[in-house]
Amino acid sequence: MGLEPVRWENGRLRILDQRHLPEREEWIEAATWEQVAEAIREMAVRGAPLIGVAAAYGLALARRSGADEQAARRGLAETRPTAANLSKALARVARADDPLAEAEALHEEERRACEAIGRHGASLVPEDAVVLTICSTGSLAAPGIGTALGVIRTAHREGKLKEAVLLETRPRLQGLRLNAWELLRDGVPFRVIPDGAAAWWMDRMGADLVITGADRIAANGDTANKIGTYALALAANEYGVTFAVAAPTSTIDRMTPTGDEIPIEERPPEEVTRVRGVAVAPEGCPVWNPAFDVTPAPFINRIVTEGGVHSPPYDFAKSLSPTWP
Ligand code: MRU
Repeated sequence: MGLEPVRWENGRLRILDQRHLPEREEWIEAATWEQVAEAIREMAVRGAPLIGVAAAYGLALARRSGADEQAARRGLAETRPTAANLSKALARVARADDPLAEAEALHEEERRACEAIGRHGASLVPEDAVVLTICSTGSLAAPGIGTALGVIRTAHREGKLKEAVLLETRPRLQGLRLNAWELLRDGVPFRVIPDGAAAWWMDRMGADLVITGADRIAANGDTANKIGTYALALAANEYGVTFAVAAPTSTIDRMTPTGDEIPIEERPPEEVTRVRGVAVAPEGCPVWNPAFDVTPAPFINRIVTEGGVHSPPYDFAKSLSPTWP
């Protein structure tokens, strides 16, 4: 606990470079918005809420240095197009008289939101539970305890967790590298399985809950999250396991009516053809590498935000406060 991968210190943004975890802890010292944008694009910092926080500080850096703010806002927004938190955080900071104070306030609000998500989400966890999750959704993805991993942590603290089951999360291995690193530090019991083993795990070992994070939740509840989430939801529905999404309301995009309108980022083929820089595919191998997929709302049994546990049918265009639009 207490992991703070994004820190404002002495007029710079310190960013824990997640590309090197778990092997080593290396920090980036960003003094310009361009350096923050680079860190987001290259996934040194990642996870929708944490991307929003980093971008907020990035825009504050632009204002302090007298850079062209419109260019900075555009440049930061373009880095990862799927995460709703990114453009929303930028819009909020752009409106502020004191962008740094606004970025700090947003950072703290997201930390508190994750605490509340943990509390609400833990109510979905039965005693002696086996809980599946995908990607990295802890402190390395959102301020404080994280979102889906925050729910798992809270359930563990409440003595209800038998075991967390982490999907390794190809191609960038966020589950294996990052979620596993965080849970080992915390002493939370877990196992990692290959992504393709999720349905077979449910068949052979059983599960009580699947909980994931989100990069963007459309007004109707359709949810974009790490590639593989949709397959996990299909398997959970087939096996009658509750499938829940945990995210702060900053991830809900009331202006996007359905998942069809969510832009899905495609990443370089080398993420698939190379493992930690080593080529594992034949030269010239064709690849499709979407970073996210969209799980349609009918497959999502619950959506947990800092406001509580939402049940279907979802209609966030009506039911959300416009203060974090
Ligand atoms: O591509 P990434 O690693 O930024 O993707 C992250 C995810 O898909 C997370 O599940 C999501 O951002 C929620 S993080 C609390």
